[in-house]
Amino acid sequence: MSEFVREHIESGIQVLCLNRSNKKNAVTIDMYQTLCDALHKAELDDSIKVTLIHGEGLNFSSGNDINEFVQIAQNPEKMSSVMAFLQILSSYKKPLVAGVEGQAIGIGATLLLHCDMVLAARNSRFQFPFVQLGLVPEAASSHLLPLLVGHQKAFEKLILGEGFYGQEALDIGMVNHLCEPGEAFDLALLYANKIAALPVEAVTLSKDLLKYRAQDDVQMALMREGRIFKDRLRSQEARDAFMAFLSRGKS
Ligand code: COA
Repeated sequence: MSEFVREHIESGIQVLCLNRSNKKNAVTIDMYQTLCDALHKAELDDSIKVTLIHGEGLNFSSGNDINEFVQIAQNPEKMSSVMAFLQILSSYKKPLVAGVEGQAIGIGATLLLHCDMVLAARNSRFQFPFVQLGLVPEAASSHLLPLLVGHQKAFEKLILGEGFYGQEALDIGMVNHLCEPGEAFDLALLYANKIAALPVEAVTLSKDLLKYRAQDDVQMALMREGRIFKDRLRSQEARDAFMAFLSRGKS
């Protein structure tokens, strides 16, 4: 259990909080494992009707911890916790709602593509900086984003990797509703409660129907990306990009 993920369950809602605000909620291997365990547990717990994920403080998440990218490159078996998390995230049977403030970068943006509802602050900022880091898209984003926005827009977001803000995320369909900064958690909780008040079996079966068509393609994308991503972590391009980030402000 990572100290950097907080969980509490209230009125049928499992709230998972990325709790590492001094690092902008960058996600570590332990955090992936804890999130993975929490989702597996929730699937077996009839008292949990909805899962809500958000970030402590002013940000959702700045993505994978870049220090740990370096460690994973040296010990690729460490990637198994990431893959296990992506597996349960992409096949999760219960409704998953996200409340987004501030930065949503890398996995902080790609995990949203698996959520059923995303509520975000107007000034939230989304970014898929994989190529800039010498990497390739992950979490089935190479499949899900083109499906959502078409090839050209997905190319722009995933390959150019420039950040964009709440209004654009709303316009392209990554976000359901915007709110004022500081209100994303409350709005996400409002929607989580609305979903939790509906007949549980009908919600679960309906989510399954909505996701059914894409499920095989998502799993294939996860495998394809995972293979290439693992290799890219050891590439010179990625090593240079990680070092550039980690040595910022040191010269
Ligand atoms: N991995 C590891 N540490 C991270 C991090 C990440 N993904 N994102 C932020 N941090 C750390 C910073 O190193 C810094 O640590 P320090 O205080 O010990 O120096 C702290 O979090 C605060 O970040 P900082 O960069 O000073 O804040 P900022 O407001 O200037 O910028 C971001 C915020 C998120 C825009 C910037 O940190 C960033 O670009 N992070 C990397 C995002 C990324 O590429 N993620 C990988 C996606 S695949």
